[in-house]
Amino acid sequence: MEIVAVDGRDSGVFERFFKLRDEVRREEEFPSGLGLEEARVLMAGEHSDLRANGLGLVDGDDWLGIAWLDWWLLENTHLVEVELAVAAPYRRTGVGSRLLEAVVERAKQDGRRLLSSTILGDAETGESAGTAFAASHGFVRKLVELHQVLELPLSEERLAELDQPVAGYEIVQWREHTPDRWVEQFADALSAMSVDVPMGELDHEPARWTPERLREAEARRLKQGRFCHTTVAIDPHGQLAAYTQTGGGTGNPERLYQWDTFVRPEHRGRRLGLAVKVPNFCSLQAELDRPAVLHTWNATTNTPMIAVNVHLGFRPVAQRTDWELEL
Ligand SMILES: CC(C)(COP(=O)(O)OP(=O)(O)OC[C@H]1O[C@@H](n2cnc3c(N)ncnc32)[C@H](O)[C@@H]1OP(=O)(O)O)[C@@H](O)C(=O)NCCC(=O)NCCS
Repeated sequence: MEIVAVDGRDSGVFERFFKLRDEVRREEEFPSGLGLEEARVLMAGEHSDLRANGLGLVDGDDWLGIAWLDWWLLENTHLVEVELAVAAPYRRTGVGSRLLEAVVERAKQDGRRLLSSTILGDAETGESAGTAFAASHGFVRKLVELHQVLELPLSEERLAELDQPVAGYEIVQWREHTPDRWVEQFADALSAMSVDVPMGELDHEPARWTPERLREAEARRLKQGRFCHTTVAIDPHGQLAAYTQTGGGTGNPERLYQWDTFVRPEHRGRRLGLAVKVPNFCSLQAELDRPAVLHTWNATTNTPMIAVNVHLGFRPVAQRTDWELEL
């Protein structure tokens, strides 16, 4: 049995790694997560903000378990994000523990002082094999998120019913490339979102977005075969007051994601969240060629966002908890 290092450049090794990760993901009632090419680009490429790689515990031709590692490079350089997945027949045989030990060793070698892990669990209790494993290894639960889903497409009548433009704000939409006109303000809104999003007790720094970083993320998304729909609301003075983004990957077109929704503090309380989300849904579902599940995760303390989602028809399916281990 040996631990092998994985990145996206050796396709044989990478595809075995990905297959096991994806199989474990498919055990969920509403599977989410990256497709093969989306993951390969992350693990093969040079990115200025992230290094992604992995480990596999391998016995001959058998892959027993894997660890996916995200090493942030611009902020959060004190931590490593880790996701473990063990093949069902090998669970409770120490595979996860062995991989975790290898991760801890590498994280320490790199000077990181914290492991951070997001773990899926039951809708009511939040518990799962993953949370039991984390607790038994000294991880501490720092944030609880609700996983909600909405089946698309919504009917035209339903969309018309939900659509409530807010007077005084102009709706602007774009796809993969932020128009030059908005790139500065949009990068600034992404940074403000990162500061404002509830993070519970997590020892995480907000991301600092610049136009250059945004352009790099857009180029990466294209390479990954991802697609993204952005809708913003512009106030009468030309300020970008709110935005929302949804999208997915061409490898898994039935998995869609509601990413950020952000309303600048001075514009809150005017239903701008809904005013950007509904046109964004229209744009997203106009290109759907099959039914799909739209996923979203929000801190359980983020009552306004969860309420907006319930109003739109999202329902809760699971909890996701975020854990940290001090090294
Ligand atoms: C969580 C997971 C990685 C654990 O891997 P594993 O190889 O089975 O873990 P180990 O055999 O090393 O277990 C170590 C300890 O964790 C705890 N544990 C692991 N699975 C458990 C379970 N199903 N119920 C209760 N405790 C559990 C136990 O204390 C166990 O020690 P013990 O077997 O001596 O009682 C595996 O169940 C898995 O892949 N689950 C699906 C994906 C997932 O949830 N990943 C976690 C996200 S990072």
